Amino acid sequence: MNDNREPEMLTARDLAQVGRGTPAGEWFRRYWMVAARSDDLRDIPMRVRVLGEDLVLFRDGAGRLGLLGLHCPHRGTSLEYGDVGPSGLRCPYHGWLFDISGACLEQPAEPPGSVFHEKVRHLSYPVRELGGLIFAYLGPPDHEPPLPQYAPLAEPGGQRRIEAARHYDYNWYNFIENGADPAHFSTLHLSDPDDGTWRSWFFNARDVPPFDAVETDYGMKVVSRKPAAEKGLSYVDEKSYALPSVMQIGDTEFTHFKEPREALARGSSNAHWMFVTPDDDDHFTLYTVDHYTGPDPDFMTRLAPSRRPVATAEKPEHDHRPLSPYRGSVRLEDIMTQSTQGNVACRQERLAASDKGIILQRRLILNAVDRVRQGLRPQGVPSPEEGARLVRMDSFTGIRAYPPKPDGETDVRSD
Ligand code: FES
Ligand SMILES: [Fe+2]
Repeated sequence: MNDNREPEMLTARDLAQVGRGTPAGEWFRRYWMVAARSDDLRDIPMRVRVLGEDLVLFRDGAGRLGLLGLHCPHRGTSLEYGDVGPSGLRCPYHGWLFDISGACLEQPAEPPGSVFHEKVRHLSYPVRELGGLIFAYLGPPDHEPPLPQYAPLAEPGGQRRIEAARHYDYNWYNFIENGADPAHFSTLHLSDPDDGTWRSWFFNARDVPPFDAVETDYGMKVVSRKPAAEKGLSYVDEKSYALPSVMQIGDTEFTHFKEPREALARGSSNAHWMFVTPDDDDHFTLYTVDHYTGPDPDFMTRLAPSRRPVATAEKPEHDHRPLSPYRGSVRLEDIMTQSTQGNVACRQERLAASDKGIILQRRLILNAVDRVRQGLRPQGVPSPEEGARLVRMDSFTGIRAYPPKPDGETDVRSD
C-alpha cells in the first residue's frame, strides 16, 4: 500500500454517508447537531439515533443532560428502558448505574469491594440546550467547539414556536439541496397561477423569477427577484443555508397565509429555521423553529393550521401511486420529489444552469468536508476565540433595491 498517495477527490456522492469514519460523517462530527426537542425529553430516557449511532438521552436527578450509548456495556440491554435516578441512568437488567459522563458508579451484583466498575466507561457525548432544542456533539473531544447561538433560539422577546420533530425516510442531503433550488417553487409548489396570491404571482412557471446564488459568512443564499412597480426596486425572496445542515426560509408568512402581492411591501417579521439531523444514511429528522417579532399577537395561532400537510388535489380511484395525492401541500410536494429522486450517491443527474444554487452549495460542503479531512476547522464551526457567537441568517423577503446599493440604483434583471 502506498502511503504517499493523494486522498481521492471528494464528490457529491460522498455526502450521502454520515457514519463514523466516512468523509461527511467526520465533517458532521465537528458541529453541534440537534438531537431532540426539550419538550420531548420528560422523566424517562429517550432513544435517539444521530449520524448512525444509537444513543439514549436523559436528564439526571439534578436536571443535567446526558447522552449515552443505547446499549448497556454489560450485556447490551437497551438503556431506553433504564431508570433515571439522582446521579444517573440505571440499567434495568442488573442495575449498573452510569452518570452523564459515562462513568459506571455501581454494579449491585458484583462482590463487595469490587472495583470492576472503575474499569467500565460507557460511551457518552456532550449535550447542551438552547431555546427549546437539545444539541449533541459527537466529534473528537479536543475539537469540541462553542455552541453557536442561533438567533431564533437565543434572542429574547417575540413569539417562538418549535414544531414537533418530523421524521423522514430518505437521505438528509435531498432535503438540504432542495433549499438551494428556488427554480422548483415555480413548478412544484404552484397550485393555481391565477389565485391572486403573492406566491403564485412570484413563483410562476410562466415567468420564472431569475435568481442569484450568493456566498455568505454562514454559507449561502439564493436570491430570487422580480421587478416592482417602483423604479429601481424589486420583489426579493431569499432562502439561506448555513453549514452543516440549517436552512432559513424568508417568505413563510406570505406563502402560508396566502397573502396578496401587496402584502410583501411590509417585509417579513418571521424567522423560519430548519435544523436537519441525519439519523443515518437513509433517515433524517427535521426540527423547525419560528421566531416572530412583528405586531400580530395571533401569529403563531394562524401559522399552525396553515402548515397542515393536507393535499387539496383529488385522488381518482385508479390512482394507486403511494404518495398521491400530494398537490396543494408544500410539505407533501417536497416529500414526493425528494423521496423519489434517490440517494445522491447513486442518482443519475444532468445539472442545468438553474441548478447553480445546488452547484455552489455542493462546493461549499465539499470544501468543508475536505478541510476536516485535512485536520482543519470547517466553515460554520466557531473557533474558541470567536466563542458562542450569535448566528444570524439573512433571508430577506420584501421589496428593495437589488442588488442592494447605497444610492438606491439597481439592475433588477441581470440574468
Ligand atoms: S445488561 Fe445492563 S446491567 Fe446487565
Ligand atoms: Fe420545496
